Amino acid sequence: MTFIHTPPDKQSILRWLLSEDPAEIAELWALADATRKKYVGDQVHLRGLVEVSNRCERNCLYCGIRADNRELQRYLMLSDEILACAHKAVEVGFGTLVLQAGEDSSIEAQWLADIIRQVKEETDLAITLSLGERSDEDYQLWHAAGADRCLLRFETGNRELFDRIHPPLAGQSSDRLAILARLREIGYEIGSGVMIGIPGQSYESLADDIDRFRSLDLDMIGVGPYIPHPDTPLAGIGNRWDLPKGEQVINSVELGYRVIALARLVCPQANIPSTTALATLDGPVGRELGLQRGANIVMPNLTPLKYRQMYEIYPAKAASTEDAEQSCAAALRQIRALGRTVGTGRGDSPNLHKSI
Ligand code: 5AD
Repeated sequence: MTFIHTPPDKQSILRWLLSEDPAEIAELWALADATRKKYVGDQVHLRGLVEVSNRCERNCLYCGIRADNRELQRYLMLSDEILACAHKAVEVGFGTLVLQAGEDSSIEAQWLADIIRQVKEETDLAITLSLGERSDEDYQLWHAAGADRCLLRFETGNRELFDRIHPPLAGQSSDRLAILARLREIGYEIGSGVMIGIPGQSYESLADDIDRFRSLDLDMIGVGPYIPHPDTPLAGIGNRWDLPKGEQVINSVELGYRVIALARLVCPQANIPSTTALATLDGPVGRELGLQRGANIVMPNLTPLKYRQMYEIYPAKAASTEDAEQSCAAALRQIRALGRTVGTGRGDSPNLHKSI
């Protein structure tokens, strides 16, 4: 199929989000899949996810690992355990290691820099950091140590809603868009994204966010439906923030696929994962549908099983009982069943070497 790609404007994005016409939606899936094929090809890149720490100093109203959740046993992985995960990633053929954690200042910057350096010395893995908001100095140190990419979702571009669900830390409110711009200046490949269906999020503002993916020129885009966690305030607050009927975004898996598809249309060359939130809501088919509707990345979990259950940002997270081998084998099977190929090399974002 050959076609001229014209990214949709905000009005068309909104129309796709709200459409109830099955033919129109089928067209969105087809367009997203064709765009994915044309700009990033059939390879699906695998990123090994390591959940380094579930400690967090923040109290984001939606997140299960928020500081005030006392139902959780907290952990910080040992450096040897992180290095073992890196070697596991190489063994199973992954090109990238993603180090993710809550905002945990006990993750000492130099300690992590030493781990990053050692991983780079011992392997050819690309390293992606997903550690929340850290200081400029920390990000610079980690980049100098060899970290390649940074993920920081802006969650919602609606300032008022963002502030409501992210109580400021030490009186300081966040500016994630400014941090993303700095990360790019430092030299990272940058990724961001949003949650879909946050109480108080309107379709209009979600359409703005998708449009913003383009202006941010993202190399990676991670999106997923909001999943209420019973041990968080937002799980009980939702209704009080109700928008007028019809304006509140539904936190459905269906909408998750639509946002993936639209993200592919606005940023044709970005790396877009079929996220765990989809597989949590839709079962294994969730990951496959994500890959058929615009995604080109899968992030199997390499976190040691003894920590896995404690990293519960939302309940019943998919694959929380599978060990690394099982998660990888399942991912490989799914990719092949879809007629796609497993990515080789680091899987850098083609967005960095744009052809359009
Ligand atoms: N439901 C869905 N996604 C969530 N995240 C955190 N808590 C939840 C939740 N309850 C997402 C945020 C964060 C990413 C690591 O996980 O978007 O950026």
